[in-house]
Amino acid sequence: MIPLKRRKASLPVSQQDDTCKFPHVSIFILERKMGTSRRAFLTRLGRSKGFLIKETYSSSITHVVSENNSGDEVQAWLDNQTGRDASSSVHLLDIRWFTESMEAGHPVIVQDRHILKVNPKPNGDPTAMLMKSYACQRRTPLKHHNSFLTEALEILSQNAEYNDNEGRSVAFRRAASVLKALPRRVRSMQDLRCLPCLGDHSQRVIKEILEDGSSREVESTRQSEQYQAMKALTGIFGVGVRTADRWFREGLRSPDDLIRRGQQLNREQQAGVQYYDDLQKPVTKVEADVISDIVEKAVHAVLPGAEIQLMGGFRRGKEVGHDVDFLITHPEEGKEEGLMPKITNWLKEQGLLLYQKTTRNSYLEKMDGPARASSNMDRFERCFSIFKLQKSAVSCKSSSTASAEDVSTARESERPGEHHSEASGWRAVRVDLVVSPYSQFAFATLGWTGSKLFERELRRWAGQEKHMSLSSHALYDSKQNLYLRAKKEEEIFAYLGLEFIPPSERNA
Ligand code: UTP
Ligand code: MN
Repeated sequence: MIPLKRRKASLPVSQQDDTCKFPHVSIFILERKMGTSRRAFLTRLGRSKGFLIKETYSSSITHVVSENNSGDEVQAWLDNQTGRDASSSVHLLDIRWFTESMEAGHPVIVQDRHILKVNPKPNGDPTAMLMKSYACQRRTPLKHHNSFLTEALEILSQNAEYNDNEGRSVAFRRAASVLKALPRRVRSMQDLRCLPCLGDHSQRVIKEILEDGSSREVESTRQSEQYQAMKALTGIFGVGVRTADRWFREGLRSPDDLIRRGQQLNREQQAGVQYYDDLQKPVTKVEADVISDIVEKAVHAVLPGAEIQLMGGFRRGKEVGHDVDFLITHPEEGKEEGLMPKITNWLKEQGLLLYQKTTRNSYLEKMDGPARASSNMDRFERCFSIFKLQKSAVSCKSSSTASAEDVSTARESERPGEHHSEASGWRAVRVDLVVSPYSQFAFATLGWTGSKLFERELRRWAGQEKHMSLSSHALYDSKQNLYLRAKKEEEIFAYLGLEFIPPSERNA
């Protein structure tokens, strides 16, 4: 899905010292809930009247002005910028102070009615204070304490996605993500004080689960025919929400329905239906490791010196995944060109590919420019494939836990045209191969590690807080009008003014 583009009205960047009549009052206008264009307008207005208005927040700011934000919200925003309580000497002011000052032609004396009220933070509850609002500012481990809440919120998120409501879907996902980052189990609504990203709806759901053990909305969603059908249909490789929704409205509910009704399918979807059962089964880490060995062998056979990295959920430490993702590059820029067809040919010759579709690299910095970079669709040379994985190779790798049951539970195929791995010595596994030029490798690594929400939040942070544009290809600084180069992920976090978060803590 393509994120909504925000129109950016740029700020007048610098202010000459001699135009500033009140140097002791250093103002920062908060963009949050105000928007870029209004902020730019107020900045120009203030500066034209000789007020000192800073573009970025720093310790020299004396007056923070905001509109439609509560004191707690502004304080939380400040805490994110500065760390805890570094802002205690700053005036947190409502826009009224600013407009009155504009009318008066000088900074008016700060009065009680201008001051935003900040509730004292409860002592001994450090979680409330330290929880930052962007997921890319937080550490989110794989295992956490609140699955009983996050699973419920994620069902609502998923359902919103099925209904093409992206805003709502992201809101639930963000709420779930905050709970994943908490160091302990939520026991009462009190525990949620001051946490960011928890909207009214999410709070209602959480409250019901805490009080009754479950949420009626979540349970009825889970049971609903639409949710179940959309889950089954979008679970088919090659089927997105749009197609699934059309099929649902035509009365189709499952892959079996597609076969029975003789539904027209493209090549990708045919493979998706054919290997449906296998592709529904989680891929284990051992299976991913066996596939890593195969991919490494294939890549080195056709391009010695190439580098291969396991990406996605497995790089974040997951023990199972829905697919296996790889990023491939070569230290000599240009050597990676045309690599993918060679890899897939090698794999085909070995009888290891059940399906593959390669898309060419279509990224050109000069052509694409920064405006496109915020989209999460990247344009690397990429191969969507289905591997034929021999079970013997897997049991060999896991040696001790060789799965004899795989063979003994063999059953006859019930649906013609479908593969049932129980009856055979192999299973189908979805594998994504991505080739990146070396100069983009750090960005590709960051972009393909996930989680999806973490990536989304990184791009949002870059755009909204740093006026930068991040993609899996590049980082563009709109203020300086230049691309920022990086060899390692760490450098990208540094450019973005973020603490480095290791992959294992990007499970937002
Ligand atoms: P996955 O969809 O494979 O997710 O995307 P995952 O985290 O590995 O989890 P599993 O596979 O369900 O266990 C992996 C990463 O690749 C990026 C996503 O943003 C995610 O971070 N990605 C995926 C892209 O950048 N572009 C794509 O087209 C697909
Ligand atoms: Mn994956």
